[in-house]
Amino acid sequence: MRRYWHPIAASAELRDQPTKLVRILGESLVLYRDRSGRAGLIQDYCPHRGTSLLYGIPEDDGLRCPYHGWKFDGNGRCIDMPAEPKGHLLRERVHVVNYPVEELGGLIFAYLGPSPAPLLPRWNILTMDNLVKEEKVYKEIGTIEVPCNWLQIMENSVDTTHREFLHYNFSNYVFERLGDPPIPVQRRQIEVGYEESRYGIVKRDLLEGGSYEDESWTVGQTLVFPNMIATGSRKAPVLQIRVPVDDTTTRQYFYSCYILPPDISVPTEGDVPHFDIPMPAPGKIEWPLFISNVIQDVAILASQGPVYDRSRERLGDSDQGVNIYRKMLAREISAVENGEDPTSIFRDPEEARGPVLPFGKSRGGGGPRLSRYGPLSNVQMFSPLISHLRQQGVDFERVFGRDLIVDKK
Ligand code: FES
Ligand SMILES: [Fe+2]
Repeated sequence: MRRYWHPIAASAELRDQPTKLVRILGESLVLYRDRSGRAGLIQDYCPHRGTSLLYGIPEDDGLRCPYHGWKFDGNGRCIDMPAEPKGHLLRERVHVVNYPVEELGGLIFAYLGPSPAPLLPRWNILTMDNLVKEEKVYKEIGTIEVPCNWLQIMENSVDTTHREFLHYNFSNYVFERLGDPPIPVQRRQIEVGYEESRYGIVKRDLLEGGSYEDESWTVGQTLVFPNMIATGSRKAPVLQIRVPVDDTTTRQYFYSCYILPPDISVPTEGDVPHFDIPMPAPGKIEWPLFISNVIQDVAILASQGPVYDRSRERLGDSDQGVNIYRKMLAREISAVENGEDPTSIFRDPEEARGPVLPFGKSRGGGGPRLSRYGPLSNVQMFSPLISHLRQQGVDFERVFGRDLIVDKK
């Protein structure tokens, strides 16, 4: 995981307070924005006497400890010790842990691995505002902290069969408990395919009555190794990124884009807004919340345990995706042990400039629709944009076609 760039915050999370505690890969760090606008990431405690640098004062060229004023720059050097004599050697000897950061598309990324850092790939969905003309691209970043190991969430991304059961049959059980009518169940999956690609794994599926010409097969969905998946549809693409906080916590990012007609009014301009997605309490089924596909997934995955004990599992034929992903992980770990770059690393500037993730048409029938609880069912259930459009009485079918499932009532 230390060979890849990971998002550590939405840029918008530094808007009200220019410092933020970041836990990632088991380390506690402080992210800050200095007064010249640069972001930096350093250890969370001051090397002088341990004060949290969360209380640090941003200056033009770094962050100053609030206690006795030691100042650190983005390269981890101590550049001022106000109470020590001028020219004191201590200043040269003090260093703080620091990591390179880069901002892209409203996210702040960090690289915590060995030098030289690979390039941060500028995925099309992150830079999309430059690509689409005549239409307005609106973006939002939702995050949720899930109390389980990141691998459980990734294995769910190569588990295409759960969609039919969890997101349709279980959803209907939820609707039944809420006294709402059931939703039509997805057409049966009759074939699934997994294929390795430059970025990771392409998953394809063929639904009953469909053909190999359907986009669910030709475009499929891309899992970007090791920890992202491109979901959603052409009009509402979503990049999901799973970042290990530590062994038993994962921060999940839902980077959502909405391609809107130009006349639609949106809630904010400027920074890509950030919102929190609530994690349901363990062992409790909170009925309206459980309509959301996102909540269904995280509740199920957290229920496997903080680090799921795989020695107890019984895999079947339909779990081939999980096997393929696990083999790929083992192979790439060996590559790193042998001193090589693992797969899906970018070092060629031309290639890193704009790798393209494909987003197909909606699968039609989409996710479960909401009835009296809101217009949409998955991450959109928590989206400030969707509630704004709803208040404006926007016709969702005109805006998104069948890409988002809307209840007209
Ligand atoms: S504890 Fe930070 S300067 Fe003293
Ligand atoms: Fe799911």
